[in-house]
Amino acid sequence: MALKQHLDDQVRFDQQVENSASYVLPFIEKTHTIGPDTAVFEVGTAEGGVLRPFMERGCTALGVDLAPERIELAEGFLAKEIAEGKAEILLKNIYDADFLERFKGKFDIIILKDVIEHVPEQEKFIPYLKNFLKPGGQIFFGFPPWYMPFGGHQQVCRKKWAAVLPWYHILPRPLYKGILKMAGEHELVIKELMEVVDTQITIERFEKIIKASGLKVLHKQDYLINPIYKYKFGLQPRKQFGLLSAIPFFRNFVTTCVYYTVG
Ligand SMILES: C[S@@+](CC[C@H](N)C(=O)[O-])C[C@H]1O[C@@H](n2cnc3c(N)ncnc32)[C@H](O)[C@@H]1O
Repeated sequence: MALKQHLDDQVRFDQQVENSASYVLPFIEKTHTIGPDTAVFEVGTAEGGVLRPFMERGCTALGVDLAPERIELAEGFLAKEIAEGKAEILLKNIYDADFLERFKGKFDIIILKDVIEHVPEQEKFIPYLKNFLKPGGQIFFGFPPWYMPFGGHQQVCRKKWAAVLPWYHILPRPLYKGILKMAGEHELVIKELMEVVDTQITIERFEKIIKASGLKVLHKQDYLINPIYKYKFGLQPRKQFGLLSAIPFFRNFVTTCVYYTVG
């Protein structure tokens, strides 16, 4: 079921900007100052909209992605900021030696919003991110836990029933794949959704990786209703009830999004 943000790049960019200005930036600001001296790095920047509110506050920004078509869009949307030297947008793998050499120890804030659930080998990737932080730097993560109703990202399906059916992504892999095929989803969509099965992340596993990486949780928030749903579906964001957040494992099923700053 293609939503308007899937079809319209400008709508997607605007949603990123508004969500970042209203939720991501204020969340990060609880534990780190944001101003003209702040260097921000977004991994998985896509259209680059998350970065704009930070540049409006005077920060410099680097956005990196692996998808050429999205980097091209970011270059268009942020053309003014790039021309003014406030932003740099790169199609780059952050594991590349020349990337590490150029950006080692350069950033106050690293942002991964709706990205870590797409990254393989998070146990290796998360500690690697520390290379890019200045002393005292912090990393923001926002992601949907795997067991939440649409944790498989099945909302991208073309067939409405396949897009709105909750939790079938947690069925055994062949069964899930079979249902997607039965729905007539395109091979590429199925491949993308199977990748999310491979990289799935829960609240518990994420916190375990953070600890094993020598990082500390500085601030966290569970959401019953993900702030981005305000822009995507017109729903009012809602923080998770404390009681539900306190129930390990079960909380993953009823928490549509989690925000963390770690450092
Ligand atoms: C769901 S989008 C999120 C975009 C944006 N951060 C936002 O919040 O709207 C995920 C993006 O992460 C990118 N991505 C996934 N793995 C990546 C990696 N290892 N390095 C850089 N980008 C990555 C994808 O290409 C995609 O553009």
